[in-house]
Amino acid sequence: MLRVGLGGEAVELTDDSSRDGRPIVLSTPRLTVTAWEDADLGDFYRLHADPLTMRFFVGGPYTRERARERLGDFLREQAGRGWTKWRVQDHEGRTVGRGGFGLTDEGTHRELGYLLAPECWGRGLATELAHALVEWHFAHPDPGLSPDLIAFAHVENTASRRVLEKLGFVQTGEREWRGLPHAFSRLAAREWR
Ligand SMILES: CC(C)(COP(=O)(O)OP(=O)(O)OC[C@H]1O[C@@H](n2cnc3c(N)ncnc32)[C@H](O)[C@@H]1OP(=O)(O)O)[C@@H](O)C(=O)NCCC(=O)NCCS
Repeated sequence: MLRVGLGGEAVELTDDSSRDGRPIVLSTPRLTVTAWEDADLGDFYRLHADPLTMRFFVGGPYTRERARERLGDFLREQAGRGWTKWRVQDHEGRTVGRGGFGLTDEGTHRELGYLLAPECWGRGLATELAHALVEWHFAHPDPGLSPDLIAFAHVENTASRRVLEKLGFVQTGEREWRGLPHAFSRLAAREWR
């Protein structure tokens, strides 16, 4: 069966496609990154409504309305440009996080983002996910954007900052972003591999 792939190309669906037939963006040993669907709103909301997960996010936990809005953004971004902050599932097909890319405020770079449900923390999963996303970024450059990758995290988000550091991101400074102090970092294309 042919369907439209995440880069807009026709792709053959194989046994590698997730069980419910959604396109797979990438797989790591323990996680699979897939497209979102409208029907994911419940899972999407649960993931983003947890105060612990959302404690370093501007605006804090999502309301159901905010979740609906953001899921709509992600679906539109996927349809329009072929990349977004995708759905992350575990071996059993459960939605356990999101990971992928936004656009920096300047509109010049992809920005790496990841979020996992608390039951997944502390096992190296974010590092595994972020590493695979960085590989995806360099393998699928957007011709309109810088090849370098940007990331930023609340200054107190030690776990996230450590993930970035382990991947080789270099800190470029600290400044307020939407009212909260954030540490910005960059991974230059020429530094990867
Ligand atoms: C940030 C997050 C993705 C990390 O996930 P994770 O799977 O636990 O991360 P990993 O296990 O891959 O690695 C985390 C690293 O930070 C370290 N770390 C974790 N918590 C820490 C803390 N409170 N203080 C210091 N280091 C910490 C870990 O020891 C590990 O480093 P190490 O390999 O050198 O030991 C996860 O906590 C999360 O989803 N948080 C909520 C969403 C979020 O904040 N996303 C990032 C937005 S910028």
